[in-house]
Amino acid sequence: MQPAQRIAALRREIRHHEECYYVLDAPEIPDADFDALMLELARLEAAHPELLTADSPTQRVGGRVDSAFATVTHAEPMLSLDNAYSDEDLAAFDERVRKGLSTATETVERVTYVAELKIDGLSMALTYEDGLLVRGATRGDGVHGEEVTANVRTIRAIPLRLDGPVPARLEVRGEVYLPRASFERINQERGASGEPLFANPRNAAAGTMRHLEPALVARRRLGAFMYQLVVPPPPAVAGTDAPLFDAPPPPEGDTTTHADTLRRLVSWGLPVEPHWRRCDGLDDLVAFCGEWRERRRSLPFDTDGVVIKVDDLASRARLGTTSKFPRWAIAFKFPAEQKITRLLRIEVNVGRTGAVTPFAVLDPVSVAGSTISMATLHNPEDVARKDIRAGDWVVVEKAGDVIPRVVGPVLERRPADAVPWQMPTACPRCGAVLQPPEDEVVWRCENTSCPARLQRGLEHFASRAAMNIEGLGESLVAQLIAAGLVRDYADLYALTADQLAALTSSSTRSDGKVIERTLGVKNAAKVIGQIDRSRTNPLWRLVFALGIRHIGERSAQVLSQAFHSMPAIAAASEGALQSTPEIGPVLAHA
Ligand code: IVH
Repeated sequence: MQPAQRIAALRREIRHHEECYYVLDAPEIPDADFDALMLELARLEAAHPELLTADSPTQRVGGRVDSAFATVTHAEPMLSLDNAYSDEDLAAFDERVRKGLSTATETVERVTYVAELKIDGLSMALTYEDGLLVRGATRGDGVHGEEVTANVRTIRAIPLRLDGPVPARLEVRGEVYLPRASFERINQERGASGEPLFANPRNAAAGTMRHLEPALVARRRLGAFMYQLVVPPPPAVAGTDAPLFDAPPPPEGDTTTHADTLRRLVSWGLPVEPHWRRCDGLDDLVAFCGEWRERRRSLPFDTDGVVIKVDDLASRARLGTTSKFPRWAIAFKFPAEQKITRLLRIEVNVGRTGAVTPFAVLDPVSVAGSTISMATLHNPEDVARKDIRAGDWVVVEKAGDVIPRVVGPVLERRPADAVPWQMPTACPRCGAVLQPPEDEVVWRCENTSCPARLQRGLEHFASRAAMNIEGLGESLVAQLIAAGLVRDYADLYALTADQLAALTSSSTRSDGKVIERTLGVKNAAKVIGQIDRSRTNPLWRLVFALGIRHIGERSAQVLSQAFHSMPAIAAASEGALQSTPEIGPVLAHA
């Protein structure tokens, strides 16, 4: 056999086994045989470099990515989904859909849906050109994402080349996730080497996808499931700039339902979560959601609900979308998991606006896949109303990515000496007298240089939505404040790499050993580079980053558009601010 033929045969065979192993979870050959095929292919390619192509399975792991990922604009926004938390919410959704599809002459009595498991990972958009994977991008804010192609290529469930005739250009969207077993293995390794643990598989997957070292990403063994196809509207010939549309009116003989789309994705060799089901009307939907509430625990990956989608693509087009969500789909969230544990004490946290909020320090307990040792108590009023006391046994709950919360005390188990909790009268960080709320329920530390406020303020300033300074997170901010290097936002811009490199942090390992660590020269340079890059951010990011009360991303954008510069905003009178569209008296005053 000619080398070219043997290489082609090996690639086909390897892809087949990748699919069996990573997509269908049904390997046909032992790992060693698979490795032997890979080795033979790698040897042949090395001997015949002219036959090497980018879609070869030997080419999944590429070199290091540059210091940051490029930003990409999605051809069509990646929408999020509206949520349903109960059977009643599902019924309301079904009613909205039926109403939306009914006409003056015809009432729609029953709609066919597809129910899919909601994979708890991070959404990803894959672009294929002439069947070849050319781009992988994260969802980002839905409009702009990060180009993470090199990392996506390492995911063996994702084909580098699609099978069979495919449109010249297409995008598939889906979820990249970390199987629970991989998550546990990674955390074990991290624990052993003293690194901080990931809170849950989703965070671990998100952290992994943003890694600059594809070889590391490959070792993490991420999985992927696709659930959406976005193709150029027929009959337009696909050019690189042709707009993409979700669910275009199908040409003859082409996909007309979501179920067909899923089958089509499978026929191209893409991974599709196999437990989806066509549901005829509301009762079927409710049954599906009920069935998976417990059954999901037998899956090797985390799911946080069921996504319900209208099956007929033409109906979807008629229903359309709101500014945020498609009207033809909804995410049914499984009810929060609850556990009972001991509330050791109640402490207060000082936020960036000085808001002082109580939280519970708990005897660590595992809930919904993560260990919880703290939970929010919202505000003093809430603590009083539920009469939550230190020493109580309390019900805690956690749903998916939601912050764990204390539901309430188990009164029958209350210790005899438990006393009602009282809000402290002084700020725990700076000692300033705490102001009881007038019209709001929120207590505040009014000291603007309170280190706790500075900490939260700097964290917000550097966050992804604000100045987007990668690497400047909670622990580095704390070190900068403790070292006296940063007293306000402006101080960040005078920092040097040498100052950062010398900072030390300590962490306690699970065996109680305390580990001291410096940031190091390389990481210090990275953070300084990120701070420098942030100088070129658009004005609105800076306005938002300042953390002025009530000024969110949207109002920061509006202000920046109206005033063009920071001095102009600073100089504007309250009246001038108020005459800006969307800026009312509360915002202008703030
Ligand atoms: S469909 C326009 N299907 O859940 C419809 N999303 O809460 C787009 N997700 O952003 C989403 N599994 O990241 C869809 N089977 C599934 C999903 C799924 C997980 C995620 C996705 C989305 C989020 C919305």
